[in-house]
Amino acid sequence: MSLRGRHLLGIEPLLPDEIVALLDLAEEYVSLNRQPQKHRETLAGLTQINMFFENSTRTQASFELAGKRLGADVMNMAVEASSVKKGETLIDTAMALNAMHPDLLVVRHPHSGAVDLLAQKVACAVLNAGDGRHEHPTQALLDALTIRRAKKRLHRLTIAICGDIAHSRVARSNILLLGKMENRVRLVGPPTLIPAGAAELGVEVTHDMEAGLAGADVVMMLRLQRERMDGGFVPSEREYFHRYGLDAAKLARARDDAIVMHPGPMNRGVEIDGTIADDINRSVIQEQVEMGVAVRMAAMDLLARNLETQTG
Ligand code: NCD
Repeated sequence: MSLRGRHLLGIEPLLPDEIVALLDLAEEYVSLNRQPQKHRETLAGLTQINMFFENSTRTQASFELAGKRLGADVMNMAVEASSVKKGETLIDTAMALNAMHPDLLVVRHPHSGAVDLLAQKVACAVLNAGDGRHEHPTQALLDALTIRRAKKRLHRLTIAICGDIAHSRVARSNILLLGKMENRVRLVGPPTLIPAGAAELGVEVTHDMEAGLAGADVVMMLRLQRERMDGGFVPSEREYFHRYGLDAAKLARARDDAIVMHPGPMNRGVEIDGTIADDINRSVIQEQVEMGVAVRMAAMDLLARNLETQTG
């Protein structure tokens, strides 16, 4: 069970076997996390630094908990996005951190490609916790684990990814992962929020929610990511909810056993009706958060095994 690369920067370079291996290991950590005693020494002696140049609640908490449960020394650097001047400053920060000999560096950054750049400058393993609208690999992996547990498989499913696709690294990483595992992916949203060239990613595209949800096994909702929009992409939130918000009537078009997902943070009444989000028979949103810790434990465990191979 291993990953070929030194870093986890995106889903793009992963092979289907690596994805399956990581998810299988994560299953073991799901069981561990449900025990009262959750501590392991897998990462004992290693130093993990979390560097978030962008706001985060669940991803940062989840990486921190994952590292602590595996016995790493974990440090959180809260970096104010506004104080970051791209390019040189990022590299200077990276070099300074590198001098402190971390083993695992978890990075979130508002610019696409920034985490890859940083990974080229440091000696440790880098995990991408989201870079701009590019990739968010651990999110796609935790989504995959959630889907696999609910549907008992991770292939030949119809998955509708709905809403602000254009600004979403979650959508991008999910499209890549679900495509590698041979699923049918549909992107659903207004034309302004579907990226140009989406069809080249091997997905179906529709601007009509009811058509997009028809027969879906999985309905994945996304937040309107206003921090990445310059100008108005939607007429009004009310209008948006009317056409693209997930409510019971629209969900009725999906399969009877379809699950509802959302990476969080959720805007109730904008992209999703609160009643659907809270419906324990349909919504797996809390399960996604639980899987997040397990997937991050598995990712760090596998990358740490490669560190050992390199040094000795
Ligand atoms: C997502 C992100 O940061 O890309 N959130 C997350 O990691 N759980 C999605 C979002 O911010 O809407």
